[in-house]
Amino acid sequence: MLDVGCGNGAKLAELVRDGAAASVGVDISGNFTAAWPPGLELIRGDLSDLDSVHGLAGRTFDRILFLQSFGYAKDPVRTLQAARAMLADDGFILLTRTQPIRYAVERAEQNGTSLGEEYFSAGTFTYRSGWNDQIALTKRTYTISDLINVFSTAGLWIETAIEPQLSEDARRRYPHKQAWMNKYLGILIFKLRPHPSQ
Ligand SMILES: C[S@@+](CC[C@H](N)C(=O)[O-])C[C@H]1O[C@@H](n2cnc3c(N)ncnc32)[C@H](O)[C@@H]1O
Repeated sequence: MLDVGCGNGAKLAELVRDGAAASVGVDISGNFTAAWPPGLELIRGDLSDLDSVHGLAGRTFDRILFLQSFGYAKDPVRTLQAARAMLADDGFILLTRTQPIRYAVERAEQNGTSLGEEYFSAGTFTYRSGWNDQIALTKRTYTISDLINVFSTAGLWIETAIEPQLSEDARRRYPHKQAWMNKYLGILIFKLRPHPSQ
């Protein structure tokens, strides 16, 4: 597996402990977990320039993960094309992204505008991060069509798309999480395969 924007690498370490072989995590922070199981490499690198990440040259992977990291790509098509070139036969990309409607809801509340105005507005928006109020994050707006068009321009097709929801049990145990999901919808998960003709 290749985990792009792997954070501290702990999720990938768990997958390696569960049997994933010869796996690599790449993150720009270089802030990696101290406990790496054998078979895992964690490399500091930029997902906007995957072609030149030391340690990835000439390698192929059965699974390439972008878990809440794809939004950091400077040129999203280029990043996906580079990942596509590293897929083994029958390999796929698993990519998660925040529902763009969530950001539109937040901006509509903040600006006193409507959901549609914000969802379809182009450009960037800035907000204080939830985990450190000293840090402001600037993001490009995107719609679901934008995402789908990026995948097809990069030569990928969507085998499956999922909008995961809490289980019945989790809803009962964590009503505040369900309230958050009711308002912001959650994330989108895409399983992407290379288009054979491109
Ligand atoms: C929201 S976190 C997700 C981390 C991890 N994938 C997870 O699911 O827990 C986004 C990650 O992307 C990384 N990141 C941001 N820009 C990056 C870049 N240009 N190249 C590589 N990693 C980047 C951050 O350092 C951070 O670890």
